Amino acid sequence: MTSPETCPPLAGRHILLGITGSIAAYKAAMLCRLLKTAGAEVRVVMTPLAKQFITPLTMATLSKNPILVEFFDPENGAWNSHVSLGEWADCYLIAPATANTLAKMACGIADNLLLTTYLSARCPVAVAPAMDLDMYAHEATQQNLRTLARRGVRIVEPGEGELASGLQGKGRMAEPDAIVAFVSDLLCEKKKSLQGKRLIVTAGATIEAIDPVRFISNHSSGKMGYAIAGELAARGACVKLVTGRTSLPTPAGVERVDVLSAAEMYEAAVQAFDGADGAVMCAAVADYTPDRVSETKIKKCDGDMYIPLRRTRDIAAELGARKGSRLLVGFALETHDEQAHAEAKLEKKNFDFIVLNSLRDAGAGFRGDTNKVTLIDAAGREELPLLSKREVAGRIAERIAKFFAQ
Ligand code: CTP
Repeated sequence: MTSPETCPPLAGRHILLGITGSIAAYKAAMLCRLLKTAGAEVRVVMTPLAKQFITPLTMATLSKNPILVEFFDPENGAWNSHVSLGEWADCYLIAPATANTLAKMACGIADNLLLTTYLSARCPVAVAPAMDLDMYAHEATQQNLRTLARRGVRIVEPGEGELASGLQGKGRMAEPDAIVAFVSDLLCEKKKSLQGKRLIVTAGATIEAIDPVRFISNHSSGKMGYAIAGELAARGACVKLVTGRTSLPTPAGVERVDVLSAAEMYEAAVQAFDGADGAVMCAAVADYTPDRVSETKIKKCDGDMYIPLRRTRDIAAELGARKGSRLLVGFALETHDEQAHAEAKLEKKNFDFIVLNSLRDAGAGFRGDTNKVTLIDAAGREELPLLSKREVAGRIAERIAKFFAQ
């Protein structure tokens, strides 16, 4: 098992810690502290009964985030969205998990925030059962655990020993360090889906100089490409990010190659593609560049001005021609006839799939933190809802992992 100190998957990962009403809830304080020490960001959701066992103040102080218990704040009506909590999390860990909560999870009962979050979570879910030995051994509980395991919920086996009832037996919640190691391993598994793959991501806008002062560029912020690079690296890929100018921080574990113009991006991407297993073409590359760059600042004159432009080389099409059985993912940002344009690019550039976003969709496009995309390949299309760019990146990374698993 991985120890919390040596397990990089926890660094920067989002752990949603669910606490239910068991005496073992006191261990959640240590659990939270260990997760934080390992570099995870922790948010805590509690059942109303859990508050009787450990105070929200303790957990808020340790997690450095407000505690969520109710669907909304009765003071100001602010809504605690179980959907966005589930989307935020890389792992939903319910520790301690009582027999009651496990039973409700198995049946799909959704009468508190912790349970509704479980039903809408897309991330891996782990439960650390905590209860008296007879409750744990009861066929009802065992059947519920089997049902949950069949649905992909990971069970952190309880330990044997003295229980709160004074009895000896199996039912003690696993110790916090063992639970942290379990979660680390769980995230390692996810991480390994692209282990050993060498991938290129192009991102951001290119800059085409007109003279030493002016240039032609576009509104791309690079956020989508950076999010993809981060998600691929988090799954174990060795990522080279060929990027136009942005103010974004380099995602953890990603090698960054800075370029300015479409010509520089072409050189860097084509060279890197030689030893790569695939590329994701997210950059907004200029299709035209000034025919010549003035060495001195162009002074204005009375009449209008025309700048002759020539075509740049198409990086994606070049990689598409060279790719063989390697992966190539493209992007299409459209304003009209979206589907037809994206399908034409898919074929023309030899992409394995293309990510279409339309500027007509609210929340999609350049500078924001959300995107609404449709993934299109030869077999069909998958329209995703409005998601954060990080979540979109996660879905794209999953598709890429599937491509390599074929
Ligand atoms: N692309 C590229 N190199 C270029 C132009 C585009 O790698 N010189 C990539 C983009 O990163 C994206 C895809 O090609 O993955 C976009 O296809 P493209 O048809 O070039 O889109 P636009 O440039 O927007 O084309 P159009 O103006 O015809 O819509």
